[in-house]
Amino acid sequence: MQLTDTEKAMRDGSGGEAVAAAMDLLIRYGEALGAERLVETDNVAGAFNASTPSVRKIAERGMDEVFSRLNLDSDRTVEIPRLAARTCQLITGIDDQNWALQGADPQMIEMQRASEAFVGQRGVNLMATCTPYQVGNVPTFGEHCAWMESSAVVYCNGALGGRTNVEGKESTGAAALTGRIPYWGYHLTRNRYGNRHIRVDVPVRSMLDWGLLGYFTGERVEENIPVLEGALAGVDLVTLKHFGAAAASSGGVEMYHIPGHTPEARSAEDAFGPNRAEEQHVYDAAARKQMYETLQSATDRKVDFIMLGCPHNSIEQVGRIAALLDGKRLHPDVALWVHTPRAIRTVAERSGYVARIEAAGGKVMSDTCPAISRRLPPGVRVIATDSAKQAHYLPAIAKVQGWFGSLDACIEAGLTGIWTGDF
Ligand code: F3S
Repeated sequence: MQLTDTEKAMRDGSGGEAVAAAMDLLIRYGEALGAERLVETDNVAGAFNASTPSVRKIAERGMDEVFSRLNLDSDRTVEIPRLAARTCQLITGIDDQNWALQGADPQMIEMQRASEAFVGQRGVNLMATCTPYQVGNVPTFGEHCAWMESSAVVYCNGALGGRTNVEGKESTGAAALTGRIPYWGYHLTRNRYGNRHIRVDVPVRSMLDWGLLGYFTGERVEENIPVLEGALAGVDLVTLKHFGAAAASSGGVEMYHIPGHTPEARSAEDAFGPNRAEEQHVYDAAARKQMYETLQSATDRKVDFIMLGCPHNSIEQVGRIAALLDGKRLHPDVALWVHTPRAIRTVAERSGYVARIEAAGGKVMSDTCPAISRRLPPGVRVIATDSAKQAHYLPAIAKVQGWFGSLDACIEAGLTGIWTGDF
């Protein structure tokens, strides 16, 4: 791999041991990928927290050891300096405020706080969300990033025109220390053109619709790049967030184009560039119904947990939930958790939304989610969620039955304890 003089100096120790270890990792990683060089990045989103029981033994030996092992894949403990790139923390394992409700023991939250203090001193912005683009990290068009988390990556590439592959804990750790990431995959213009066509024949408008369309898209195109055209409306942060998260769950979609809406494609010709559509798929009423049915893994209509906020809710979504619950009371057998970034929870508190949701018996959670934390209210058997991604993963992860539907259907189930669905 070709290195600049600065990169060679980093490799040889000019920036200290941690930077040298990071550069060594990136060179090995880049060579394995066939990257010709590295590219500069000043936008890293990774996982730098220690919040799981498996990390406890390592954390007892200090946070330098945790970072060295988990974020640099190094057997040697190196002292971690201030990071070179702008870096943010993605989702964590425990809600800093509601950890007891999650069933976490005090040692776990102490460890998470210690790790947050350690990485915070080194420059990590502790956003603690899978949606950093909702709370201040919005990549500019063409910006080279190093992000983890499939739903964030597909939003970065498809909705914003930033450029990132799906990175891991180790490569984001190395990128944060060096300001470099291998130049391959979605960093290259030639790899960002569409190669599959989705013709949308049934109106797609609501969050439910976009989640279903995303699930269909991922299932049909797998890891390819879809170009979507047809009866599409209501394109905004929330609908694209749900579309991308669903497409990255049923398939491995990391990039897409919606001509006229997403930034790299004013037309289908722009979207395909030198490529052609190798396959065309039609999303019609039958496909929509099939996706809705596929996402239902439950048979028991008696629901005991409602999960809202995968990917993490925007402030408007939290406000809408508060409005739907206003003056009502959840069924006594149902728990309802609303997940949102910690920064948005603060705004939601100031806006009165948290108080209104909690008056109805719900809880506004931040920093984490049940699929990542693997922590649900005790005894949960049947969940309902408005997220295709959560409906895809949580039943398998938590061994529960799952219903998927609109926000209104989820709230209705929360109030009555019974799932009636949308159709
Ligand atoms: Fe975010 Fe957890 Fe969903 S990380 S995208 S809320 S599975």
